[in-house]
Amino acid sequence: MTLWGGRFSEDPDDILWRYTVDHSDRRLLLDDITGSMAHVTMLGHTGIVPGDEAETLRAGLEKIRDDALSGRFRFSDGDEDVHAAVERHLIELVGEVGAKLHTGRSRNDQVALDLRLHMRRMAADRIDQIAGYIETLADIAGDHATTPVASYTHLQQAQVVPLGHHVLAYAWMAMRDRDRFIDLRRRLSESPLGANASGGSSLPLDPVAVAEELGMDATFHNSLDAVASRDLVSEYVFCAASTMVSLSRLAEEMTMWASTEFGWVTYADRHTTGSSALPQKKNPDMAELARGRTADAIGAVTTILVMQKALPLSYNRDLQGDKEQVFRVDDLLSSTLTALSAMLRGAEFHPPVPSSWTTTLDLAETLVRRGVPFRHAHEAVGGLVGRLVAAGRDLADITPAELLDAHERFERDDVDLVDPTTSMDRRASPGGGSPESVREQVRLLGERLARE
Ligand code: ARG
Repeated sequence: MTLWGGRFSEDPDDILWRYTVDHSDRRLLLDDITGSMAHVTMLGHTGIVPGDEAETLRAGLEKIRDDALSGRFRFSDGDEDVHAAVERHLIELVGEVGAKLHTGRSRNDQVALDLRLHMRRMAADRIDQIAGYIETLADIAGDHATTPVASYTHLQQAQVVPLGHHVLAYAWMAMRDRDRFIDLRRRLSESPLGANASGGSSLPLDPVAVAEELGMDATFHNSLDAVASRDLVSEYVFCAASTMVSLSRLAEEMTMWASTEFGWVTYADRHTTGSSALPQKKNPDMAELARGRTADAIGAVTTILVMQKALPLSYNRDLQGDKEQVFRVDDLLSSTLTALSAMLRGAEFHPPVPSSWTTTLDLAETLVRRGVPFRHAHEAVGGLVGRLVAAGRDLADITPAELLDAHERFERDDVDLVDPTTSMDRRASPGGGSPESVREQVRLLGERLARE
């Protein structure tokens, strides 16, 4: 039975049903019940529905919530959506008074509320999960505060940094991704219930009481905006997609680091897969799939925005598709955080010592400390590099005489500067790639996570 049979002389065609009914909103079940409980409480206290009837409605909804929590709630093929399913159950349970549930309400403001409640819960989960991922990165960084690796620009070896410093770059990205969810959760705390179908109601609804009961901070100011807007859904999808992009960049590196050429890491056997053809293979599939599936998250951002771009006010059925997008991206983000965190926890890092070429800036900055303008120092060291490369030699092999020949301000002991393992100990600038900086970052990250 539909919620709108009255004005129709025919039953809905199967074709219509199959085309319009979308089960993705079944995930909103608990939120729909929560919203309805707040609604009937408000109907009772405003006197729109007699107090005893509001009590009966509330008790019925509580029973339905228990059924939902214990998995006993059953949808039927005739339920057009989650809202219809809950109303049908309620009427089955409490009889005719159940027909008062939808007083002063439309599925338009109802679904807008359900979705906000649900996104608030999803955001809370993702905020916790990202914190766990940051802790994983911080633990690895703590273990590798003094393990030297090359940092890269243009995928060319640049300077020596601790492996921990490299890993923590992803922790700070994740911290901002997490902050975006925290920020969005505040915006999600505005209740649209009471907007009704589009223009409000002639009944004395009390949207503020509903919001308060739901632990939300505010109510809508414009009923058309309340039922028509999905920018917060777009924002959720973006927050998730942006986090996926951050994870995907790490996933790309995790894949690359496991190559023979890089040789930085060995993943646990249980977190890798084999080849059906090549017995020696050990593939980082979880990282590759994270990278690949990020395409879907990025696509969802486009889909959710395009879905809204030409919609007239206020509610339009197009908007039903918002749920599929946001749920899919959220599931993807959740499973990816779990997969990559596990892979990282089980990983053994053993990066090779970077080449001595990564120390050329130390040579130049030594001259700077002795008063040589940086541009001249760069020129002198660049000349030395050019001669060594032309001769097929390594910077590690230079002699004190060659160094003195490169610039008069060099001293014989400066040959020690080309040892890449000591380069990062000289790094003095705040936030730079030094062991001390890594330890400080780990401390700061812990402090931030403890605060929020
Ligand atoms: N299933 C709909 C959605 O998700 C619920 C709102 C339907 N409203 C309506 N007037 N048909 O958007």
